[in-house]
Amino acid sequence: MLKQPSKKYRPFPPVELPNRQWPGRTLTHAPRWCSVDLRDGNQALAVPMNVSQKLELFHALVKCGFKEIEVGFPSASNTEFTFNRRLIEEKRAPDDVWLQVLVQAREDLIERTFESLVGAKRAIIHMYNSTSPAQRRVVFGKSKDEIKVIAVNGAKLIKERLPRLAGTEVMLQYSPESFSATEVEYAKEVSEAVMDVWQPTPERKMILNLPDTVEVAMPNVYADQIEWICRNIKNRDSLIVSLHTHNDRCTGVAATELGLLAGADRVEGTLFGNGERTGNLDIVTVALNLYMHGIDPKLDFTDLNLVREVYERCTGMTVPARHPYGGELVFTAFSGSHQDAIKKGLAEWSRGGREHWDVPYLTIDPTDIGREYREVIRVNSQSGKGGVAYLLESEFGIELPKEMQREFGPIANDEVDRLGREVSGAELKAMFWREYVERDFPWQLEGFETESRNGVVKCRARLLRDGKPVEFSGEGNGPLAALVHGFSTIGEPRFEIANYSEHALSSGEEASAISYIQIKRADGKSRWGAGVDTNIELASVRAVLSALNRG
Ligand code: KIV
Ligand code: ZN
Repeated sequence: MLKQPSKKYRPFPPVELPNRQWPGRTLTHAPRWCSVDLRDGNQALAVPMNVSQKLELFHALVKCGFKEIEVGFPSASNTEFTFNRRLIEEKRAPDDVWLQVLVQAREDLIERTFESLVGAKRAIIHMYNSTSPAQRRVVFGKSKDEIKVIAVNGAKLIKERLPRLAGTEVMLQYSPESFSATEVEYAKEVSEAVMDVWQPTPERKMILNLPDTVEVAMPNVYADQIEWICRNIKNRDSLIVSLHTHNDRCTGVAATELGLLAGADRVEGTLFGNGERTGNLDIVTVALNLYMHGIDPKLDFTDLNLVREVYERCTGMTVPARHPYGGELVFTAFSGSHQDAIKKGLAEWSRGGREHWDVPYLTIDPTDIGREYREVIRVNSQSGKGGVAYLLESEFGIELPKEMQREFGPIANDEVDRLGREVSGAELKAMFWREYVERDFPWQLEGFETESRNGVVKCRARLLRDGKPVEFSGEGNGPLAALVHGFSTIGEPRFEIANYSEHALSSGEEASAISYIQIKRADGKSRWGAGVDTNIELASVRAVLSALNRG
């Protein structure tokens, strides 16, 4: 890298916009959305989608609630043309969905585009030409006036052909491509020249799409550019001002959100931000950002996992694990303190009584978008006892007493650390079973009977110690007290029961009870044990033996 980048790169000039309004505004409603997955997204794929993949993604987009879908660039290839024809001829688009098609301001391409649209119920014809200084100089070698002529001629060619689409409701869209790198005054001049041809009215608006084709500045600059256009362009009320941001500086979402504050009405983007280079705007994120502020986004991502699945299958792209809302890990906490806070927050929420969602570390309720609480906590060596306890309880109904969590948490963590990877709930349960429930050495239970008379419980225990039979009797005010007493009669070191709890285990093979017992020895040392049995009394005897066996 250069020591003095200023020798090669220059700062982006700010927009002269005194008294800018957008910083003081807040978003209150959803914009009109247009998906460009099948066009901008598709043209960014190493292997573009075939017709059946495009059809599957089209239907998924309709299901999400998109009413405007850029279906392709029909004059660019046979696949694109055929896809558009199939949508129309097979009546695949619901009547309220606009099929948008992209075309350059060139006669042959415009001609073919019109052919592709015959019979459509609703269509948006989207014409574009590049307007930035670099494009004018490098690609076209044309002056500002000559570039404006390209736009005006294209607009005229489209207008002349409109009668051919007699049965179709048509909306016209113009994009000064690379708008954000274009002088705002010149972008206005070209756009107004196109408006002069198309003659939009408040009743019959045209879409003016202002692309951040390549992000060249911070999102506040884009917002200034949008507000500048909204304030200065003629007949603003005859326009639907549309945003189309890319993500080169990783601020595509921010640019769109600020652009909406600046007065735009409409947003173009793709699912999960697929698109050229670093991608188009991620519409899922902007929509769910609105949702998390209580605004109906007018798009439905109730089953975001399914949307992601279809997207990945059709495009061959993968949604990164940390991608907002849709990524595999975004509702997963690994750190112990996060897990603990989430567990407490979810418990508070499920008790009811709170009007608004306010769970630490979770901006929205994962279940609203089809993700599961179960996904929220997984365990690795960074996890605390909270995560361990949550998994055992949520997956297996094992409700470890708080104090036992303090004992088992570090044991589990050591084991996970040794494995050097994340562990599943089933693996944690197996660790718990190994550590407590299956501890049958040196003491093993052979039989345990009790009888109770006048409030005194007498027990008879038949055990193995180191594989050799041992029998004893004991008495107390309950079976456990009798067992403890019995041990003292055979010269075992004294201990007492410090903690005891039990509950039934969930259905299935383990239709049984689990008992957790903490014993305290005369030397002050304490140990937890756990026992499982179909008989609750035997479960607690096993728990005592487990604690003794743990030394
Ligand atoms: O990024 C862009 O400028 C485009 C235009 C064709 C709208 O995709
Ligand atoms: Zn684009």
